[in-house]
Amino acid sequence: MSRAIGVFDSGVGGLTVVKELIHQLPRENIVYFGDTARVPYGIKSQETIVRFSIENILFLLKQEVKLICVACNTVSSIALPVIRNHFKVPLVGVISPGAREAVYATKNKRIGVIGTKATIASKAYESEIKAISPDIKVVSCACPLFVPFVEEGWINERAVFDVAKRYLQPLKVASVDTIILGCTHYPLLKTVIKKVMGGGVTLIDSAKQVATEVKQILNREELLEFNPGPRRDFYVSDGPAWFSGLAKRFLGHSVKKVTKVSLNV
Ligand code: DGL
Repeated sequence: MSRAIGVFDSGVGGLTVVKELIHQLPRENIVYFGDTARVPYGIKSQETIVRFSIENILFLLKQEVKLICVACNTVSSIALPVIRNHFKVPLVGVISPGAREAVYATKNKRIGVIGTKATIASKAYESEIKAISPDIKVVSCACPLFVPFVEEGWINERAVFDVAKRYLQPLKVASVDTIILGCTHYPLLKTVIKKVMGGGVTLIDSAKQVATEVKQILNREELLEFNPGPRRDFYVSDGPAWFSGLAKRFLGHSVKKVTKVSLNV
C-alpha cells in the first residue's frame, strides 16, 4: 500500500500548508489531522503542547504515514525541539523554512515576526534567524486576536484593520522590510497586513518553503509517489461540520468527507 504524507495542526490553519503540498506534490496521498477539540494551542503551556503533539503524531503513525509535516507554528516552535529525536519518521516543521526565506528576502536586515503568544515567547524564529545571520534585527509581536478573526471569516473588515494597526505598530516603528507570518492562519490576512504596513513589505508565508522541503526529503529518501488518484483524508478531534465549512477558505476548495476521531493513545 502506498504511504501518505501526514500533516497535523491544532485545528484548521494547517490547511494552508496542505494547499501548497497539493500544489507541489499533486500525486501524493495526504492524511490531515486537526486537533479541533483542543485548539487553540497558542495560549497553552509547553508541557501541554508537547503532550498533545505526541498524541497527534502517534495517531498519524497509526495511519502509516511516511513523513509528518508539523503545519503549526506553535507546535514547531514549542514541541518539535523536544520531541524531534524520539521518532524515526521525518518530522518537518515550519520554523526553519520560514526563517531561511526571511533572511533571504530582507534588504535592510530588519525582520518582523508575528505569531501566537506561545510562538513569540519561544523566540524560535529569532534564534533561527540569528543562527543564520547574527546581525539581523528581529522584532516580534504576538497577535492572538488574528486567529478568531480568520475563523469568523473577518478578513477585510475595518475592525481587523484597527486591531492589525495596533499589533503591528512596533514593526512599523522598527521599519522592518520583511514579516514572517508565523501562524498558519495569518496568510489569510495578507491584504490587511499589507495595507497597514505599506506595499514595500515582503510577507513570508512558510507554507511554500515547507512543501519544498517535504519534496526534497521524499526525493532524497526515495519516497516520492505518483498516484493517479491520490487520497486526501481529513480527520479532526471535534466538529467535522465546522471544519469542512472553514476548509474552503484555507484550502481553496471544499472537503467532502471529514472524520471525527478520538485519540485513544
Ligand atoms: N495553528 C496555530 C499556529 O500556527 C494557531 C492556532 C492555535 O493557537 O492553535 O501557531
